[in-house]
Amino acid sequence: MDNNKQSVYAPNPRLAKSAHISSMDEYRDMHKKSLDNPEDFWLPIYKQFHWETPYTPGKFVNFNFDMSKGPVEIKWLDGATTNICYNLLDRNVRCGNGDKIAYYWEGNDPEDYSRITYKKLLQEVCRFANVLKDHGVQKGDRVAIYMPMVLEVVIAMLACSRVGAVHAITFAGFSADSLAERIIDSKSKLLVTADCVMRGEKLICLKEICDTAMDRAAAQGHVVECCIVVEHLGRLSASLAEQDHASNGTNGTSNGSSNGTNGSANGAANGRKKINMKEDRDFWWNEEMEDASSSCYPVWVSAEDPLFMLYTSGSTGKPKGVLHTTGGYLMYAATTFKYVFDYKPSDVYWCTADVGWITGHTYVVYGPLANGATSVIFEGTPFHPGNDRYWSVIDKYKVTQFYTAPTAIRSLMKFGDEPVLKHNLATLKVLGSVGEPINPEAWLWYYKLIGKEECSIVDTFWQTETGGHVLTPLPGCTPMKPGSATFPFFGVQPVLMDESGKVIEGPGEGYLVFSRPWPGIMRTLFGNHERFEQVYFSRFHGYYCTGDGARRDEDGYLWVTGRVDDMLNVSGHLMSTSEVESVLVEHDSVAEAAVVSRPHPVKGECLYCFITPNEGAAFDKKLTDELKKQVRERIGPFAQPDVIQHAPGLPKTRSGKIMRRVLRKVAVNDRDVGDISTLADESVVEQLFANRPPEA
Ligand code: PRX
Repeated sequence: MDNNKQSVYAPNPRLAKSAHISSMDEYRDMHKKSLDNPEDFWLPIYKQFHWETPYTPGKFVNFNFDMSKGPVEIKWLDGATTNICYNLLDRNVRCGNGDKIAYYWEGNDPEDYSRITYKKLLQEVCRFANVLKDHGVQKGDRVAIYMPMVLEVVIAMLACSRVGAVHAITFAGFSADSLAERIIDSKSKLLVTADCVMRGEKLICLKEICDTAMDRAAAQGHVVECCIVVEHLGRLSASLAEQDHASNGTNGTSNGSSNGTNGSANGAANGRKKINMKEDRDFWWNEEMEDASSSCYPVWVSAEDPLFMLYTSGSTGKPKGVLHTTGGYLMYAATTFKYVFDYKPSDVYWCTADVGWITGHTYVVYGPLANGATSVIFEGTPFHPGNDRYWSVIDKYKVTQFYTAPTAIRSLMKFGDEPVLKHNLATLKVLGSVGEPINPEAWLWYYKLIGKEECSIVDTFWQTETGGHVLTPLPGCTPMKPGSATFPFFGVQPVLMDESGKVIEGPGEGYLVFSRPWPGIMRTLFGNHERFEQVYFSRFHGYYCTGDGARRDEDGYLWVTGRVDDMLNVSGHLMSTSEVESVLVEHDSVAEAAVVSRPHPVKGECLYCFITPNEGAAFDKKLTDELKKQVRERIGPFAQPDVIQHAPGLPKTRSGKIMRRVLRKVAVNDRDVGDISTLADESVVEQLFANRPPEA
């Protein structure tokens, strides 16, 4: 079936020479040890960190994955206490990394940049931790965050962990409704946001979205007590308007924007946008920080106390609040970062993910800081001010590891080689891919043009739920096959399962499941352990079910084949068809809606919607425009449907179930629809093909 044998790319021998793990034999030995004796394997890693109280002997790891034997439970390092912020910052400052750059910040506009050292980051985090305490935030409280990619988002996250609070970030591309839903579900009492942000040429007023979300939450009985607002765009426009040429570039933070001679700063300098600040609820970040002390004793928490929650789409439509805890997550984020990116202290690492997603949590914040790494944080888009922005940033900061999504790679391929060739990318040694399957064409472009055939490509498969990479090649070690996430990381035992629950040994295809926990796996869904067990552990007792399918080839390589449930992945954003359907049917003119995924050359997948209008309602451009707008507003711009088709009837079985495989065939105009004899009305199918809109 495949010609995998021909398409194996051996790692660059130069990379192998200096890599942490330089041969597959070494990898296999370590992987075996991690499964045979997890305590022996993880102990040296555990010892690198500070534990205020050590774990209870005999309680390194305990779990039950089999819900027929009792509640599903996962515990690592039971009895230990620690503070993750202390381990990320104080520990690094104490071991001599205080003056090391933690982050280079690169703004939307190339003129706006700054940087922060570990020492300065610790001081800022302590100050904000004191601000949180002043506003009554205590251990276990949830703090909602809705922020652009600015340094303050990292400061807010770590300040939460310093005081034992749980951060609940919502990606700042989500709508006010989505934000409100998450604030209510997490019962967050405080919200941190920014005034506005520029994405490319577009101004987005985050505070306005937060105002709407807080109003909606209040209408449903949940009052956000306090909202802290970073003056991000206001500050930039002010500093540029003043044409401040002063530079304070050496100690702690320095802000390139204050050097800026380009007075426009994305046009923001033309006037500060008026931000509504509600008395006694809304406070400016800077004013709060002014008198806050830069020292704050960390709150010691249990290894199994929650660190953060992060929502991911659920196939029933209601987002799931994935909960991660402290001790195991710290070990796992640190270890995957070190090995998967083959991290060395002199490296400059850049992950383009937004902190609103799990990739941003683990591989912009926790993993890099746990290793004392220097990272780039980027606020902008790959296309602004030109289509070479990514490559110019790599060149500017001499980036050694670059981690991005296949969607970004595909959208940049369109512009050809020239934007890449303008820049020096010779410092690169590892190129990462995350979030969706990478097609071989994109893989090869990445490998050849960006990596000059000298870099290892790490196609990392993982999920919000897994906390960190679970299937991935290792740089300088794993021979690569374009499109394969290859082999499991340490501590991870993947299993392929057939429909009947029989384990598939050797080559074959089935459900991708895991038979044991690694330290970074989620522990529950916030406030709903029953749903946690149902969603992930009820399909195959004794196994964590990813919801993805996978194939194992003759060489043992794993190939993730995509979702096996009603979820789809648009540009790396996971969403469920039912959440979009429920927004569509809210429209007065819509009687029924069915949404399927269709392959898309850049986004990977896109939304193809079938609409049955109400009796008497017209199906016209006005309606489809309104529906697209409704989805944008209710979920977020990334969820906007590509095609909305009129469906006088939907293909339903006699029991009323929509036959989605038929709709998927209509979406790609493939008339090979298979057996449709169980449909209540077979003529519906022909009608749907006839109704395909011209733009489809
Ligand atoms: O379907 C898989 C796909 O993304 C899903 C997880 O999405 P999310 O929780 O948003 O986390 C994304 C970032 C880790 C998976 O169930 N996916 C993720 N990485 C890959 C992938 N599919 C194929 N190959 C990958 N490398």
